[in-house]
Amino acid sequence: MTEAQELIRQAVIARADAYAPYSGFKVGAALLTEDGKVYTGCNIENAAYSPSLCAERCAFAKAVSSGERQFKAIAIAGAPEDEEALKPCYPCGVCRQVMQEFCDPGQFRIILRDGGDIIEYRLCELLPAGFTL
Ligand code: THU
Repeated sequence: MTEAQELIRQAVIARADAYAPYSGFKVGAALLTEDGKVYTGCNIENAAYSPSLCAERCAFAKAVSSGERQFKAIAIAGAPEDEEALKPCYPCGVCRQVMQEFCDPGQFRIILRDGGDIIEYRLCELLPAGFTL
C-alpha cells in the first residue's frame, strides 16, 4: 500500500466518527507529520451551525496541540452519510488557510479519492497567493 492509499484508508476510518446531524455530510481526514505520525479528524457540527468544525481542522487541532509543527500531507474523504466517500472532497477555504499556517504550500500534499483512484494536489495549487503576515 502506498503512503497515499494508507492515508486515505485512515481518513475513511476517521469518517465513521463524524458528527454531522445537520448537513448529513460526513468527512474524515488523516494528517501525516514529517516524522511519520498520523493524526485523524472528523467533522463535528453544532446546532448553532457556526461553531462547526471541519475534519481537516480537527486533525490539525489534535496534531498542533500535541506539539506537532511539521506536516507532509493530508488525506480527505467526505460524502453524504449514506454514500461511500468516493468522489473528491476538496477542503474548504478556511481549512486551506489553516494548512498554509503550518505547511510549505509548494510541498504539502492534499490527497483525495476519485472513484477507485487517488488524486493529489500541492497546497499552492488549491490556495494560490494565500495570506501570510
Ligand atoms: N466539511 C469538512 O469537514 N471538510 C471539508 O473539506 C468540507 C466540509 C464539513 C463541514 C460540515 O460539517 C459538512 O462538511 C458540510 O459542509
